[in-house]
Amino acid sequence: MTEMPFRFRRLRRTERLRSLVRENSLAPAQLILPVFVEEGVAAAVPIPSMPGVVRHPEAALGEVVARARDSGIGAVMLFGVSHHKDACGSDTWNPDGLMARMIRSAKQAAPDMLVISDNCFCEYTDHGHCGVVAGEQVQNDATLENLVRQALTAAHAGVDMIAPSGMMDGMVAALRGGLDSAGFGQLPIMSYSTKFASAFYGPFRDAVDSSFKGSRSSYQLDMANGREALAESVRDEQEGADILMVKPGLAYLDVLANIRAHCARPLAVYQVSGEYAMIKAAVAAGVMEERPLVLETMMAFRRAGADMILSYYAEDVARWLRAG
Ligand code: PBG
Repeated sequence: MTEMPFRFRRLRRTERLRSLVRENSLAPAQLILPVFVEEGVAAAVPIPSMPGVVRHPEAALGEVVARARDSGIGAVMLFGVSHHKDACGSDTWNPDGLMARMIRSAKQAAPDMLVISDNCFCEYTDHGHCGVVAGEQVQNDATLENLVRQALTAAHAGVDMIAPSGMMDGMVAALRGGLDSAGFGQLPIMSYSTKFASAFYGPFRDAVDSSFKGSRSSYQLDMANGREALAESVRDEQEGADILMVKPGLAYLDVLANIRAHCARPLAVYQVSGEYAMIKAAVAAGVMEERPLVLETMMAFRRAGADMILSYYAEDVARWLRAG
């Protein structure tokens, strides 16, 4: 036998050795569960394209958040499905609107759980765009004014973190300024800093019962653009974002790794509705096994540089990790 320069397999021979040299890890505390709440419904509404995910009635939210806390996951992210839509999404800054009510009931049921609000307008506008529309275009600066109103309402309702997802230019600076002036200098902002216009959001539209048929390409990133993807997160970091995010996840691992290499803030990744739906469909078709497949996607996110992962699988993953 000839001498080999190095034998990689020496450290793969037993699980003890493999665990000793494993480079990345995954813990429930790094997971964030998105939660959908629909106003005016008496029972949970299943989302056909996302088996296992439902739109909860408002009355169930407390229990859902308490269960998420008990599962050991790090946070919940609240999405409202509004029945009070208008042209600008004004229900989002109504102190008795759905967003404020969700935050209050979540915090009341589980004061020790981290509650994040998805701060956008698309689930609250009658046209389905993420802001104020004039003609074909979403008006950036008018939307920012409303976004600050919305964030202040969320802050007053007791939210633990603001997560603007509308991809407006200057959204982090506007929010930071507005929150600071109102005495919320300690409230962190998790920015959807690098969010692509993506076909992977298909089932989400189902989930939020969106009649939206248009395109968000005039505000969300072009999937062809990697340099711009980095620049977006760099900008949000400069504007004071406390946490950055890449969305979707699996198809954008290069972007995630690049942002990790260039930005110092904590980094989140969002495994979106279409990623979840694809795995569920593959599993239902009997072509792959769910648990190892999901855990592999989670580890891919960690390896690429994500500190935390938003996923509809959050509670399942927490359970699988606990089971070992
Ligand atoms: C809208 C929003 C979207 C998602 C979260 N917030 C969809 C979109 O931009 O059309 C997608 C979440 C998912 O697909 O899981 N601001």
